[in-house]
Amino acid sequence: MSNGLTVDRFHEGLQTKWLGRSIFFVHSVASTNTWASELAKLGAAEGTVAVAEIQTAGRGRLNRRWFSPEGGLWFSIILKPKLDAGKAPLLVFVSGLAVAKTLRDLYKLSVETKWPNDVLVKRRKICGILSEMKTRSKRVEYVVIGIGLNVNFSVKKALPEELWCNVTSIEDELGKKVKLEKLFQTLLESYEAVYESFMLNGFALIITEWKKFASFLGKNVEVVAGAEKVNGLACDVDDNGALILKLKDGTVRRVLVGDVSVGVNP
Ligand code: BTN
Repeated sequence: MSNGLTVDRFHEGLQTKWLGRSIFFVHSVASTNTWASELAKLGAAEGTVAVAEIQTAGRGRLNRRWFSPEGGLWFSIILKPKLDAGKAPLLVFVSGLAVAKTLRDLYKLSVETKWPNDVLVKRRKICGILSEMKTRSKRVEYVVIGIGLNVNFSVKKALPEELWCNVTSIEDELGKKVKLEKLFQTLLESYEAVYESFMLNGFALIITEWKKFASFLGKNVEVVAGAEKVNGLACDVDDNGALILKLKDGTVRRVLVGDVSVGVNP
């Protein structure tokens, strides 16, 4: 691949047990999440990864478009956790934590997690996570976790102007390009460790660690969920991944789905 990722070199350095052992690389694809779902339907094993240099129809949450120029890390992981379908949304916290730890440990970036599934640096989004699943009788059959990480491009050169204020990339933060191969290996290694901890020990440890990055906690936020807008103080994220908001009138609201904006008056 022109960005330096080659399957052989990538596999040589990868220290995971099962994640990314089966990996599909392509230069261009509509969406790695759509592609990975097709692979999962065809019986691809847990830990299979689909990665592309560019996506022509990258998808974000809530049917938004996800711009995916060359230089980013656009990939999807197939997981087959033995979980009730209701617990599958917790995997976005597992994913966010793995990304946050990787960016902190590799580049010392001051990384933040934002409920439910964003990773930011200095309040600007650097990574988005899209989780999609197939269930059978209320159990998870497979989950596709799509991770879009803005790496080796300048936001102002590669993305449309309306995103410049709210989005950043590793290149913009560090003022230089990084080795995509090393980043991808470290991220998969971190992901495998965090995921295994979740499956073995449960969610409490994961959310405790995730909250250490969550600088929106203790701040006034606005949560938009469909047509509804709620303003309040972001108090906590509970052991089911729900955001706990304290409203102006003192009532406490548990929010399960929505988009958070920070720094809004309650
Ligand atoms: C969001 O923040 O809205 C989620 C964005 C997720 C983008 C990634 S890039 C790899 C994978 N393929 C997609 O089409 N989307 C996800």
